[in-house]
Amino acid sequence: MSNDIQLSEVNKRRTFAIISHPDAGKTTITEKVLLFGQALQKAGTVKGRGSGQHAKSDWMEMEKERGISVTTSVMQFPYNDALVNLLDTPGHEDFSEDTYRTLTAVDSCLMVIDSAKGVEDRTIKLMEVTRLRDTPILTFMNKLDRDIRDPIELMDEVEDVLKIACAPITWPIGSGKLFKGVYHILRDEVILYQSGQGHTIQELRTVKGLDNPELEEAIGEDFAEQLREEMELVQGASHPFDLEMFLAGELTPVYFGTALGNFGVDHMLDGLVEWAPKPQGRATEERDVTPDEDKFSGFVFKIQANMDPKHRDRIAFMRICSGKYQKGMKMRHVRIGKDISISDAVTFMAGDRSHADEAYPGDIIGLHNHGTIQIGDTFSQGEALRFTGIPNFAPEMFRRIQLKDPLKMKHLQKGLLQLAEEGAVQVFRPLRNNDLIVGAVGVLQFDVVVARLKSEYKVDAIYEPISVATARWVAGDDSKKFEEFKKKAHDNLALDGGDNLTYIAPTMVNLSLAQERFPDIKFMKTREH
Ligand code: G4P
Repeated sequence: MSNDIQLSEVNKRRTFAIISHPDAGKTTITEKVLLFGQALQKAGTVKGRGSGQHAKSDWMEMEKERGISVTTSVMQFPYNDALVNLLDTPGHEDFSEDTYRTLTAVDSCLMVIDSAKGVEDRTIKLMEVTRLRDTPILTFMNKLDRDIRDPIELMDEVEDVLKIACAPITWPIGSGKLFKGVYHILRDEVILYQSGQGHTIQELRTVKGLDNPELEEAIGEDFAEQLREEMELVQGASHPFDLEMFLAGELTPVYFGTALGNFGVDHMLDGLVEWAPKPQGRATEERDVTPDEDKFSGFVFKIQANMDPKHRDRIAFMRICSGKYQKGMKMRHVRIGKDISISDAVTFMAGDRSHADEAYPGDIIGLHNHGTIQIGDTFSQGEALRFTGIPNFAPEMFRRIQLKDPLKMKHLQKGLLQLAEEGAVQVFRPLRNNDLIVGAVGVLQFDVVVARLKSEYKVDAIYEPISVATARWVAGDDSKKFEEFKKKAHDNLALDGGDNLTYIAPTMVNLSLAQERFPDIKFMKTREH
């Protein structure tokens, strides 16, 4: 019996994230989605725009000043018969590592495109990451209340650049000041747009059928004529929706609307809960884990400090992959081989945290972390499983970190190692001296680290330039050859935050020479936790 409950809980869950280029409208669409999910009383409260909600600590202050969102949060809400988990991803490109890891914890993605601009850089990069697992993608063409590019051209661009077929589910009627609404191809009805109602859930007028004479009266003769012509063209030239292709990540259903005007967002949500996959199984080193298994398992994809400035705690975000979480249950922390009782996991209902008594596959729970949990850690009910595919990326920028007060060395080391564990930054300790080298994927990470070292660990640190071009994790199958490599390359080797051996290359030429000199050693650009 308990398995029936498990199955129905799994079947109703949809766990997704939004990918987009900054300013395409991710925050706005998140607000509207939460409005439909009745998780927000009124749209306009997610970012705390102007409400001062986030002005709680130095680094959050910095985040606010720069108008970026560093924090990844998780929001759960009901929609129709489904329970939706939306994982927010930091939009700024300096935090791409967090974003990439978050994409390993979802089963589908919504791609939001600014219809005046089309496919932009950041979207291309994020789509590449979703292609690693062929994650199913829904597409929302946003900002139809502005003058947009030709919709057929927009879809062609998605197909050409992102290599995914487009199946329009809705089709726009006009845009900008003349935006009239959309034709829902599958429902065969026109849904009429009303401007200025974006903060509410609207009762909208619909006209059933393209040949309905009411259409002329509703949108005018010219638009009615144009729509009928376009629909013939579109249906001939575009792909029909195909569930299998969508689930294989080969085709994306496309919706048109305006997030600001809260128009079209519900069409996308209807598609998400109807078609997007329920929580999927995940691979471990040992075997594939499926969500209908009785025994609990999950992996940590993100660690975050300062969720609640009053508590100054750190939270490890875990995606549940099988079984069920129950308050007070025992879990095995597989890497350190210890069983621990979890009595106070948190869930992330929008805007607030509440205690979760139960959670199922597809859900995210937060574990209070006192320094023992790392990104990539697996928790199970005893079985020695290790989930794979949670990436670490070789940093591309390096600086030596120095203390203003040398007596605070211990604090600095502790702080840096904890920040490294969270994935906020990477730390390298050369074998040949006592330097501490900070490596980052984006330059903003450096500022965040200094601000957090000051506010959380009370150390004043500054950076100095260092001539490091790149770093590679190293490994070798032949232990004798590896030992020899360690001796010969000693001056270029360092330990990262997790004590993994890394080759630090002063120049790219140095790296390729080292690779030629040690052909039996693997130099890795990404490392799976
Ligand atoms: P992001 O999270 O993807 O970075 O985008 P965000 O939602 O913050 O939206 C970026 C800007 O685009 C915001 O304007 C937002 O109001 C606007 N926007 C979002 N959706 C639509 C839409 O459907 N139509 C139009 N016309 N604008 C839209 P802003 O001026 O930067 O911010 P704000 O002052 O309005 O908050």
